[in-house]
Amino acid sequence: MKECSHSLSFSQLGRRATEPVITDLMHRALDNAELLSLAAGFTDNITLPVELVQCAVNRMGSELREPDYLQYGTNRGRAGLLIEVANWLNASRGEVASERFSPESVFISNGSQQALYLAMQSLCDAGDIVLVQQPTYFVFLELCRGLGIRPVSLPALPDGGTDFSRLPDFFLKLKREYGAERIKAFYLNSYFGNPSSRSVPVEEKRALGRALIDHAVSVPVIEDAAYRELWFSQPYPAPSIFSLPEFEHLPRLYLGTFTKPFATGLKVGYGVCSHPQWLERMLWLKGHQDFGTSNFNQAIIEDVMAAGEYPGHLERVRANYREKARLMGEALEGSTLRERGWSWQQPEGGLYYWLRAPEGMDLSMGSAFCEACLANGVLYVPGDLCVAEGEPKNFARLSFGALAREKLTEATGRFTAVAESGCRE
Ligand SMILES: Cc1ncc(COP(=O)(O)O)c(C=O)c1O
Repeated sequence: MKECSHSLSFSQLGRRATEPVITDLMHRALDNAELLSLAAGFTDNITLPVELVQCAVNRMGSELREPDYLQYGTNRGRAGLLIEVANWLNASRGEVASERFSPESVFISNGSQQALYLAMQSLCDAGDIVLVQQPTYFVFLELCRGLGIRPVSLPALPDGGTDFSRLPDFFLKLKREYGAERIKAFYLNSYFGNPSSRSVPVEEKRALGRALIDHAVSVPVIEDAAYRELWFSQPYPAPSIFSLPEFEHLPRLYLGTFTKPFATGLKVGYGVCSHPQWLERMLWLKGHQDFGTSNFNQAIIEDVMAAGEYPGHLERVRANYREKARLMGEALEGSTLRERGWSWQQPEGGLYYWLRAPEGMDLSMGSAFCEACLANGVLYVPGDLCVAEGEPKNFARLSFGALAREKLTEATGRFTAVAESGCRE
């Protein structure tokens, strides 16, 4: 086809758009079979629920059933799935019975990514500020920048926890610089988070809720729990912000997904919103975007959950990631990286190792280290992408999600070989 060279006058949104790092990382991995990717957050093909999906589709195809699932559905999602989601959350560890999640406050989204976008679109204008943790989910940072929103990290301790002692100055400066009214939301990645696999302890969560009120930053809180189900030995004990009184007076949005724990390809996620008007606005925006998440995909998940098959599936998924985390840990510990000043924690859930290289090392995109890894056939996520301020540059996220076990050990070996070669620029 002849390329059209007509010059286009793009909208501000169109002009701000850049290629998401995630699509670039995914392409590199898909385009080059030799390259082993520890970068993109793909799940493991061997845990994908092929049989469960087949059985669900067979049940759905029964002659007794109306094929409503092949019809457009509703914008908010299938009534049966909304109930399944609410029941699932109410039964999650730590949730308080008096704070029931109700199906009326649940909506289904095209992955939790869409819900994040709806949340930001409904709350923020270009120039507004969203508070985030350091580090945080880098695709969320890109999403914000695409909308012209400025993500700002809360002061952090070296272990990734919030540095409450620096909060008074932090808020004072932020308000002075931008105006209090520009601070629009707080985004919290609280269970086996991306990229650090850190979970937020209940005391810290409570203190965060109090800090927002104390510093007169009563903004909506978005709790992203994408990895909550992916624990290895036990569910993380902290309840969600829906069960903590410190957040009671703040608008709350809890986001979960069926992509990571069930089937990434179905791309079904969900949100629960405590604030009816906010929920309504997000749903109107969703109406503009797609007026409903794939009904068929939702019906599959609803059927699997109604048949009681989801918990058993999760057991298998967890066992697989627990073993893969162990393998990657073994490969890392078997190297000389610790002696060379690198450090990391053994994850207790999720899909990632978060590695800290010695101070002064640059692992960012395009750095000599990154190029050496590519030349050695391995890809990782440079840690600076996961920090709103783009610093420090001596961190890397390694995912043990996608690669088969043998390849995982090999890929980790390729990475540690570069680190051991003393590539320090
Ligand atoms: C922390 C976090 N939130 C949200 C998402 C979006 O996931 P999905 O749209 O597949 O539900 C991801 C995906 O990697 C993630 O890591």
